[in-house]
Amino acid sequence: MSATEVGLVVGSPAAAEADAVVVGLLPGEDDGHPVLVAGAEEIDAAFDGELAALLDLAGASGKAEEVVKVPSRGAVAAKLVVAVGLGPAENGIPDGEQVRRASGAVARALAGSGRVVSTLGTVDLTAAAEGTLLGAYRFTAFKGDPEAGKKPVAQVEFSSAGDEDGLEVLRHAVAVAHAVRTTRDLINTPPNALYPETFAARAKELGEAAGLDVEVLDDAALAEAGFGGVLGVGQGSSRKPRLVRLSWSGGATPVKKVALVGKGITFDTGGISIKPAAGMDHMTSDMSGAAAVIATTVLAATLELPVAVTATVPMAENMPSDTAYRPGDVLTMYGGKTVEVLNTDAEGRLILADAIVRAAEDEPDYLVETSTLTGAQMVALGTRTAGIMGSDELRDRVAAHGRAVGEDAWAMPLPEHLRAELDSRVADLANVTGNRFGGMLAAGIFLREFVAEGLPWAHIDIAGPSFNTGGPWGYTPKGGTGTPVRTLLALLEDIAANG
Ligand code: BES
Ligand code: MN
Ligand code: ZN
Repeated sequence: MSATEVGLVVGSPAAAEADAVVVGLLPGEDDGHPVLVAGAEEIDAAFDGELAALLDLAGASGKAEEVVKVPSRGAVAAKLVVAVGLGPAENGIPDGEQVRRASGAVARALAGSGRVVSTLGTVDLTAAAEGTLLGAYRFTAFKGDPEAGKKPVAQVEFSSAGDEDGLEVLRHAVAVAHAVRTTRDLINTPPNALYPETFAARAKELGEAAGLDVEVLDDAALAEAGFGGVLGVGQGSSRKPRLVRLSWSGGATPVKKVALVGKGITFDTGGISIKPAAGMDHMTSDMSGAAAVIATTVLAATLELPVAVTATVPMAENMPSDTAYRPGDVLTMYGGKTVEVLNTDAEGRLILADAIVRAAEDEPDYLVETSTLTGAQMVALGTRTAGIMGSDELRDRVAAHGRAVGEDAWAMPLPEHLRAELDSRVADLANVTGNRFGGMLAAGIFLREFVAEGLPWAHIDIAGPSFNTGGPWGYTPKGGTGTPVRTLLALLEDIAANG
């Protein structure tokens, strides 16, 4: 995959020989023309201070993600002036997410370009670089000719406000974008190519390349150790389940120890409680949580965060067959609790329960789990907002980080009365309630049963946000989005700084 290169612009953006120079626009007050944002001063000066008026004539309004291209005709060294809308901004200063989305929209609109100069770095260098790199993403591994079509923009140079170490900011953004792109690649890899064995092999390769400790349990090892949830869900498939553990030490003096857990269902047919055929292809993304925690753990090592991180990742394929687990089966989970399976399509919580119990054996300070767990998440919050559950403080901390990095998130309750609805006639608990009300919360209540007493924990339901079934927007392409890698990173960085 040819990746976009980023750098800092040397000298005036007006003098830079490039295919295009990018300026940011805000909507004007009342009927006035749109307004240029910081960073565009020298470009505007080259147009005798009339750039905003000119862009207005060309139809630019400053509305979010609108891209308008105007030939420069020699006024500046770049061939094109490209204006991108940021949308309305408080006090005329766009926030990071506005810059990230606008930069993503520009990266998409300038696919096929060679060298581009972006003045959006002056507003927010981190956001401009991240948005550019994430917006330029394409997944072509399974195209007959992966090189066909427009190439991602080759090179983007950013202006900067100069109040920070620009090169260091870019290095960080490149590492973050790499982790998100890795996550997207894993999600976008089809289920006949990515199944537990190959997924585990890929995780091992990524982990070892980053210097992590890697452990892979195959089905025999899972049986030996009593991982009844992972084995039960995986037993209907000829592609046998795995449990992968990746550990970053946190360097010489780790501040805290964090357990990450991610759902790795490589394809979810629903099993014997089979799903309708329409839209079932979406279930190629049911390992998005697993992909995100693998990439985040690798990223923690790349950035040498002073936090010990261990990802515990259960991987299975949920298939109907004569060997599949059935509604009515009772599974003995890792750690000994028993679960009556009333619906084989509520499989995520079963593999996660095993993994959560295993993760707690390391005695972490925090446990964060993420999964494409329930359709109910989308009913409650839509396709772009993750539902966060767990212990009060960590839940709110995760939700706040999600919103701050542009991975929208909202704290949800775990109503106590739902626990009784998971009571089982024969086992310690059932895997579903008898109705669909509060389905996202019931799944959270189920997981809570497996979290060690007193361990601060959070569950991030990303059923909707992990996979974009609509058109591209901002820096979000179709398919795998890479959510919540940046939320998890923000949390780890927060823990590194504040405990
Ligand atoms: N993987 C699905 C949840 C899902 C649905 C993710 C749509 C992304 C998009 C999960 O395994 C599932 O099937 N959940 C059931 C739970 C129900 C049986 C209690 C659901 O949401 O219908
Ligand atoms: Mn399911
Ligand atoms: Zn699932």
